[in-house]
Amino acid sequence: MTIRCIIDTDPGIDDAVAILLALASPAFDILGITTVAGNIGITTTTRNAGRICALMGRPVPVQAGAAGPLARKGFDTAEIHGADGLGGVAFPASATLPGADAVGFLAETLTREPAGSVWVLTLGPLTNIARLVQDHPEAAARIGQVVAMGGAVRDRGNIGPRSEFNMAADPEAADIVLGAGLPMVLIPLDVTRQVRATPDDCAALHAAGTPQAEFSARLIEAYFQSTTVTGPGAESRPLHDPCVMLYALDPGLFGLEAMGLSVDLGPTRDAGALTPDAARPQVQVATSVQGRAAVARLIAGLA
Ligand code: BDR
Ligand code: CA
Repeated sequence: MTIRCIIDTDPGIDDAVAILLALASPAFDILGITTVAGNIGITTTTRNAGRICALMGRPVPVQAGAAGPLARKGFDTAEIHGADGLGGVAFPASATLPGADAVGFLAETLTREPAGSVWVLTLGPLTNIARLVQDHPEAAARIGQVVAMGGAVRDRGNIGPRSEFNMAADPEAADIVLGAGLPMVLIPLDVTRQVRATPDDCAALHAAGTPQAEFSARLIEAYFQSTTVTGPGAESRPLHDPCVMLYALDPGLFGLEAMGLSVDLGPTRDAGALTPDAARPQVQVATSVQGRAAVARLIAGLA
């Protein structure tokens, strides 16, 4: 099966690895990349999306989207993803200019392509997708599948005790998207924390000899350097966003549970936290994963 898709993203070290996997895999037909502010500002996430495509020699259309969340201030996480959003890994410049209408691009593409044929793979805050739902509901209803990295369901958060970055960065957008009744698979921290890269995995990527594997190794090594971890897990790092592509490639790696989810819209650091709620539309939530098999699939795809 070919996955015809639009990738909505805030690159971002792990976004970049995810996009490289998709660009390298013949299973993906990438119609465009839409960008959102999240890990870093919109100018930089958009520039980075173009640079990742340039490395791969692929003229995928890039469209800049939301410069900030629907209703609150954005985060600055430069300490994890570096001042350039890509951990200082030197990607080539893009020769093509991005567009500036992510939501219009999403709406036009979904309206033009057969209903149900286009997947939307989200790796960042859900601001663009919420605007699509609000401003172009007929187009949003034509999405074949949303696969979204975000949230923590039973596991702890990574912003507040229960909130995860992509949901916390724009809780109102997450609330709109999770309440829209779209066909949706959510890939939360519960599973992404189990898909972990080790120094041996980086060595395997260096040895693979493809640009996408080499740059993924450099990105993951930059992630090791930008985060200090002690105790269990110190010798590996989670591959959050690549799990979206891995789900699309091989859904059998993941176990899903259907549930409705409400979103904390309060003022605390737990804004964006998810709580199972039977009154909300059901989404499929990944709650288990074969972690080492997923990493092996990632390395094979990049190699
Ligand atoms: C998510 O937050 C971002 O920092 C990563 O790119 C990923 O999308 C993980 O919580
Ligand atoms: Ca991301």
